[in-house]
Amino acid sequence: MSHYKIAQIGGDGIGPDVIAEAGRVLEAAQSDGVCFSFEEAEVGAALYHRTGEDLPRETVDLCRAVDAILFGAAGLPDIRHADGTELTPQITLRMLLDLYAGMRPVKLYPGVPSPLRLPPDGRIDYVILRENTEGLFASLGGGSKVGEELAVDTLVITRKGTERVVRRAFETARARGRGAPADGVRRVTCVDKANVFRSYAFFRQVFQETACDYPDVRADFAYVDAMSMYVVQAPWRYDVIVLENMFGDILSDLGAATVGGLGLAPSADVGDRYALFQPCHGSAPDIAGKGVANPVAAILSAALLCRWLGLQQRDPAATAAADRIDAAVARALTDPRAHTRDIGGSASTRECADAVIAAL
Ligand code: NAI
Ligand code: MG
Repeated sequence: MSHYKIAQIGGDGIGPDVIAEAGRVLEAAQSDGVCFSFEEAEVGAALYHRTGEDLPRETVDLCRAVDAILFGAAGLPDIRHADGTELTPQITLRMLLDLYAGMRPVKLYPGVPSPLRLPPDGRIDYVILRENTEGLFASLGGGSKVGEELAVDTLVITRKGTERVVRRAFETARARGRGAPADGVRRVTCVDKANVFRSYAFFRQVFQETACDYPDVRADFAYVDAMSMYVVQAPWRYDVIVLENMFGDILSDLGAATVGGLGLAPSADVGDRYALFQPCHGSAPDIAGKGVANPVAAILSAALLCRWLGLQQRDPAATAAADRIDAAVARALTDPRAHTRDIGGSASTRECADAVIAAL
């Protein structure tokens, strides 16, 4: 029997609500082979407002001590630094723990309405690999502003940072194995703006060099502007997409919109040593405290957590827990009574999670 310690970090807004439900689902997914214990920690803008710190030392220490991190959301638009930016401890954590691969599955579940008009066999099932530690986000806390006239942030692409996320993308295509829904071809699409910028041309160059090591997976290319059309017009053509940090941030929310919205979009921020699992969405202050947030993105993030433990620890019992959670979510979503308001239903956060637990 394996026992995993999980840091449970709710954060701001709807974060604590959806993470509480994801924790309940993890408990319900325990088996003879795997169990979880949870330790809570604090982060966020509200914490900063209260104490002057958005990411306390104890929280970072806990993140380093546990087997995996389950994270809600952080940041509130009304609480800002003097320079106008928000508190973003979730991004600081990515940098501190070197969580360089932001893995964001985009999958349409049966029963969930998509805003797209899909052909009868048009399935959406691809994964975005967002480079998570450099790109435009390398400027986090480091851009410059000159008086009231000028502000600059710099985009940074390194060979090491690019190569390691590209390798993850190709390995993800191999592990998925099933390829793109349209043709079954295993494919990694490099999305950039290599026609205009040296930084993105270099990203593409490193991608091409790395792709040579994966002859069984097709290397594919698109410019980001056209890509934001393709993922709306024909998302079934894609298997795995890899791209720079800022482009990944934007394209993953667009992808989420095609499969029912942010309430259904999970993510895994993974490095070589640590991993953090959180919904793609933020703290959603517009619905915080109302009990209507969709917990599915957080629950699917908990499934990614189990899947990562299964791989990292070579533990089939953890992988089986991931499979159980995925299957339970898929089953629950076929019943509109489990749907929260964001996807046209009237279930509360708790009722939706209860439906997943019942399916488990
Ligand atoms: P958001 O993702 O919080 O919300 C965007 C829209 O999606 C809102 O209408 C919200 O109600 C809806 N939504 C999000 N999650 C939902 C869920 N689980 N169920 C139902 N509806 C959901 O993005 P927004 O409004 O741009 O940012 C709000 C705050 O969150 C900001 O302070 C921002 O900095 C922070 N943020 C934090 C992130 C993180 O912790 N990883 C990521 C994105 C934003
Ligand atoms: Mg985002």
